[in-house]
Amino acid sequence: MKNKIAIIGCGNLGLSIVNGLLDTDNISPTQLTVTRRNIASLEYLTAKGVCVTSDNSQAVADSEIVIFALKPYKLLEVVQDLKQELDFNKHIIVSLATGISLKEINEILGEAFPVFRAMPNTAADVNMSMTCISSFNANDEAINKVRECFNSIGDTIIIDEELMDSATVLGACGIAYVLRFIRGMIQGGIEIGFDAKIASRIVTQTVKGASELLIQRKEHPEFEIDKVTTPKGCTIAGLNEMEHNGFSSALIKGIVTSYNKIEK
Ligand SMILES: NC(=O)c1ccc[n+]([C@@H]2O[C@H](COP(=O)([O-])OP(=O)(O)OC[C@H]3O[C@@H](n4cnc5c(N)ncnc54)[C@H](OP(=O)(O)O)[C@@H]3O)[C@@H](O)[C@H]2O)c1
Repeated sequence: MKNKIAIIGCGNLGLSIVNGLLDTDNISPTQLTVTRRNIASLEYLTAKGVCVTSDNSQAVADSEIVIFALKPYKLLEVVQDLKQELDFNKHIIVSLATGISLKEINEILGEAFPVFRAMPNTAADVNMSMTCISSFNANDEAINKVRECFNSIGDTIIIDEELMDSATVLGACGIAYVLRFIRGMIQGGIEIGFDAKIASRIVTQTVKGASELLIQRKEHPEFEIDKVTTPKGCTIAGLNEMEHNGFSSALIKGIVTSYNKIEK
């Protein structure tokens, strides 16, 4: 990547993105500026060549792609504060905030600005994020720049803005759902004889393998499930018991509940 990137409000998600970016050959640490008000926890990044500052204006002046990783309730206030320093000929704005629309950001900055919303997840930390992106007023060049940035930390997909809340639930909250599923499997593994460490190793590689099967073969999950469910066998007995206890239903209900919570 050629562009300089600022991450304004570098907390949990911002740091995952920084870690992912630093892990690639695609970008030099000197292209990155990160901010938060209390920078003590970010200072170790200075030794790696990243510019760490509490001065949002300086970060904006030094960068082309400005990623706002602030909490939603902070975003519009900080964008307003930086309005005079943001230039639509130079800057591409990317907001990671859940629930704040492109329209709300453009109302502050003016319609000329290319503005993006991106919804990565914390697997950015290990370059495995799924990032859903939507934009307003962005040309192909700007879209490619933003995609290139987020492709460095995983996979990207362009979606309509109206699906951004759904992307938040499935992709960002999704990490937590899958981790809870993994925890449940590990607990089951311990009950049938493995210690926690071995159970965790078996389960995490199995989950990774199941995911890769679907990613690489592009099949429906049930197609792969059919291959491992012998008639009258132990897999189908276990699966059906899970379903009798509401396994798929609990997941779907949880996803819809998360979605409704954002909508409110
Ligand atoms: N976590 C996820 O998986 C996920 C996924 C997708 C999107 N998101 C979105 O990402 C955003 C960030 O979430 P998060 O969990 O990373 O929050 P977070 O850890 O609280 O990070 C936000 C950071 O902003 C800093 N900040 C606050 N006011 C600031 C200001 N005026 N100037 C500069 N920095 C300031 C805070 O640090 P100081 O107090 O030191 O300033 C804080 O570290 C949210 O909008 C969320 O909706 C999160």
